[in-house]
Amino acid sequence: MASFAVSVIVIEGLRKDWVLMKKIVILTGAGISAESGLDTFRDAGGVWAQVRPEDVATPEAFARNPGIVHDFYNARRIQAARAAPNPAHRALAQLQAVWPYPVVIVTQNVDGLHEAGGARDVLHMHGILAGALCATCNHRWPAPSTMAVTDACPNCGGQTCRPDIVWFGEIPYDMGLIFGHLATADLFVSIGTSGQVYPAAAFVQEASAAGANTLELNLEESAVSHEFDETRSGKASDLVPLWVAEVLDTLVAAGSVQPA
Ligand code: OAD
Repeated sequence: MASFAVSVIVIEGLRKDWVLMKKIVILTGAGISAESGLDTFRDAGGVWAQVRPEDVATPEAFARNPGIVHDFYNARRIQAARAAPNPAHRALAQLQAVWPYPVVIVTQNVDGLHEAGGARDVLHMHGILAGALCATCNHRWPAPSTMAVTDACPNCGGQTCRPDIVWFGEIPYDMGLIFGHLATADLFVSIGTSGQVYPAAAFVQEASAAGANTLELNLEESAVSHEFDETRSGKASDLVPLWVAEVLDTLVAAGSVQPA
């Protein structure tokens, strides 16, 4: 097993005058929740090594066998409800609370650990385990911890209730809003994602084309590492609090906030 010390690769030279970067847009993936005990998807032994996505994460799978799909997400919902936020989630919430400009958190994660760590207005582009969705009338409501094929939609009564998760072949949530944020970002930061799933994997190019500085914080090289101005490798619970402290220190140095 390789050991992962924190290391930094400066590809094109990221400006370090963080205080001049106002709007920060952050994309997170399964890696930020790994140290909270939740499996990633593509690491060794990850979710997609345990089960095939085409059996549980497509509309076709749900039409074919909704019971199997519910079982899969019921287990993940229970596991996520037991998990606690780690220092990476809490550091991003601190950044949101202290930074005097917008900090937008977009996550591919369906757990609620950003919110549990104190973050606000998180955009869950792949949906959320805590939500239920009616496949007939599109009504959305809080999911019970265990969903069943026989559940009835509280709006239309139909028995087509599904987890409020974006499956392969479906369009992620909030795309207009997210692309608007990417177009106006000064800094785009990607944390704990393999860069293998689009459209999220294209966010770095989108932000970069709009003039943002770009930084990747990940355990290993991702499929899109080469697109970033700078990449730092290590565990999210090490890298994210260090980076947030570095950013907030520039505010102190600029006299914008008093040190804690
Ligand atoms: P992946 O499993 O594809 O990638 C997780 C990334 O996190 C990898 O690059 C790891 O190196 C990194 N990683 C693992 N542990 C880490 C740690 N402790 N600290 C920092 N990084 C760590 O997960 P995602 O990129 O989130 O979609 O996957 C994207 C989407 O693919 C998911 O939202 C899901 C999946 O199919 C749907 O289910 C629709």
